[in-house]
Amino acid sequence: MKIFSAEFVKSAFNAQHWTTDDKPEIAFLGRSNVGKSSLINSLLQRKGLARTSNTPGRTQSINFFLVNEAFYFADLPGYGYARVSQTMRKNWGKMAEEYLAGRHRLALSIQLIDSRHSPTELDRQLHEWLAFNQRKALVVATKADKLSQNKLRKSLEQIEKLLPGSPIIAYSSHTGKGRESVWREIETALKTADGGGQFTIRDRVQIGNS
Ligand code: GTP
Ligand code: MG
Repeated sequence: MKIFSAEFVKSAFNAQHWTTDDKPEIAFLGRSNVGKSSLINSLLQRKGLARTSNTPGRTQSINFFLVNEAFYFADLPGYGYARVSQTMRKNWGKMAEEYLAGRHRLALSIQLIDSRHSPTELDRQLHEWLAFNQRKALVVATKADKLSQNKLRKSLEQIEKLLPGSPIIAYSSHTGKGRESVWREIETALKTADGGGQFTIRDRVQIGNS
């Protein structure tokens, strides 16, 4: 995809501040420090547009970016960081459920997994939640530059076993590996995004411990 424009729109700390127009949205979800903001910058080829950091667990807002004046990228707070308080962890689950269940223009949820580590229980819960609620999901295995070909292949097999049913793309924000493939998935999702009605939650499946 050719990027004509990419701009930071806002940081939203609660649902009242989420974007409300009818443009489709792509969400980026994953553990703290997994590389969500780096992936966004790499896809948009804009260094520093989404703030990256070595300090996990900091960002608690959803950051919205408008791309080509046509669709949004939503950078969600990372989960699973051990040193945040119990309350903050609970809040992540609540916020994510509210967001994922209520966004009727959500065209694709991109779930990031660090290719050096096996998916965690929280990763699996989130993946199951997305599948159960029929949300279109793509798994991106990040930091692929840090593994040998052989280790990367094994890691992708492990991710596929634990998070079945979604395409998996190995990515490196440092080299740009996987960039074309991820854009292809995003474009397909944007094309097939129905202009549709409100998404209805089928049941209560909790994300995260409570
Ligand atoms: P939170 O916002 O805290 O949840 O983190 P995040 O998921 O947005 O991660 P972020 O993009 O800030 O990246 C975290 C760290 O991983 C940074 O030091 C990045 O430079 C590094 N990183 C991200 N992607 C890659 C990658 O593809 N390769 C390598 N080698 N490092 C990466
Ligand atoms: Mg980030």
